[in-house]
Amino acid sequence: MPTLLRNAHVVDPSSNLDGVLDVALADGRVVEIGSALSTLPAWDIVECDGRLLFPGLIDPHVHLREPGQEHKETIATGTSAAVAGGFATVCCMPNTAPALDTPETLAWVRMRAEASAACRVFAVAAATKGRKGEELAELHLLRQAGAVAFSDDGDCIATPGMMSRVLSSVKATGACFMQHCQEPTLTRGSAMHAGTIATKLGLSGWPRVAEELIIERDIRLNMGIGCAYHAQHLSSGGSVGIIARAREAGLPVSAEVCPHHLLLTHDACDNYNTLAKVNPPLREQSDIDALLKGVASGVITVLATDHAPHSADEKSLAFEDAPFGMLGLQTALPLFYEVLVEGGVVPLSTLVTMMTTAPAKLCGLDALGLGSFRVGGPADCTLFDPSARWRVEPQALLSKSKNTPYGGMLMHGAVVGTWVAGERRYASEGSAQALQTSRR
Ligand code: DOR
Repeated sequence: MPTLLRNAHVVDPSSNLDGVLDVALADGRVVEIGSALSTLPAWDIVECDGRLLFPGLIDPHVHLREPGQEHKETIATGTSAAVAGGFATVCCMPNTAPALDTPETLAWVRMRAEASAACRVFAVAAATKGRKGEELAELHLLRQAGAVAFSDDGDCIATPGMMSRVLSSVKATGACFMQHCQEPTLTRGSAMHAGTIATKLGLSGWPRVAEELIIERDIRLNMGIGCAYHAQHLSSGGSVGIIARAREAGLPVSAEVCPHHLLLTHDACDNYNTLAKVNPPLREQSDIDALLKGVASGVITVLATDHAPHSADEKSLAFEDAPFGMLGLQTALPLFYEVLVEGGVVPLSTLVTMMTTAPAKLCGLDALGLGSFRVGGPADCTLFDPSARWRVEPQALLSKSKNTPYGGMLMHGAVVGTWVAGERRYASEGSAQALQTSRR
């Protein structure tokens, strides 16, 4: 049904929009943006009352677990969580079973997404067969089959020889390579950040240098190649300086950060709390401070969730044996809003860019018109009420798994609606956003 979003505070820096406007959607497209737009009787009119309206958010880093790990998440449940979190587009990682390393597996994901997804789903394909880091996957065929980027996420491309081949071959496809920056010999058997909490718990520590070394190495390897290189889920403050220097030198390097690395420290892992076990690990306040500076200075340009569902049974294993990862899709926008905008790190316009235009460019989705409002462009939008307050109830989250470390925490801001190709795919129940006053 054609829809008029009336009196929304539209924020889209890519189109120089920042003001109260009406946005009209029809046939999957934005058809008009302006003041006091008129409609026909058949139109659905949504009174936005000055709430914030962004181009549909894009998450370039999620785990949807299909095929093969449907006990953790499915494309249907993961994308329901995505639209409830304001995301109109997600890019899913290839560490499925089997890995997304053939055109057939990509075609299968596309078919499942067409049948069951609540939002747009694009696949990031594995760069090496089986994500083993030994043999290149058929990158050109994967690209033709719709891969928007390449990554062996969950694992790092460990050897310099293979990494060099990956960079050259990915460059030839025109896509970007997303590295999971983890030097494996420095992290074997490690379950959390190498610091006082790991010592107290008697756990083997994961040093910052395991991340920094890979970023340094890859930048060096890439100097004569020039592939678009993206460092995933930064955790170490030291990584910010390395990326800043490379960007200053004009090298094609970008980086993302996730909410948990801006908000939580290794203290969250105390008492063997597996909900806070994540790869790369939660670190220290000095790392958070450096990552926030990286966002403020524009060194880190992309915000992502690394939404990583795991079942309750898996997360109730001993800390060393439990899988790494936490949910992210339904809590990301309020957490980023609180930490970055209310915290005065960046203006709202920058947050919007980092969750729309920047991930769209990273994955080539700007070519489809995603990530910005344009008349004639895709009718994807996110309506957000920054004054709403709600408390995270893990069992009420829409992911199949409930592994969030934020249970009971007060969220600053709530998604009110998410539209994908002009269809409303999420509408909040006003009552669920009941005002709360104190933080856990
Ligand atoms: O914590 C993580 N979980 N980090 C990753 O890189 C992979 C992810 C997963 O697939 O569970």
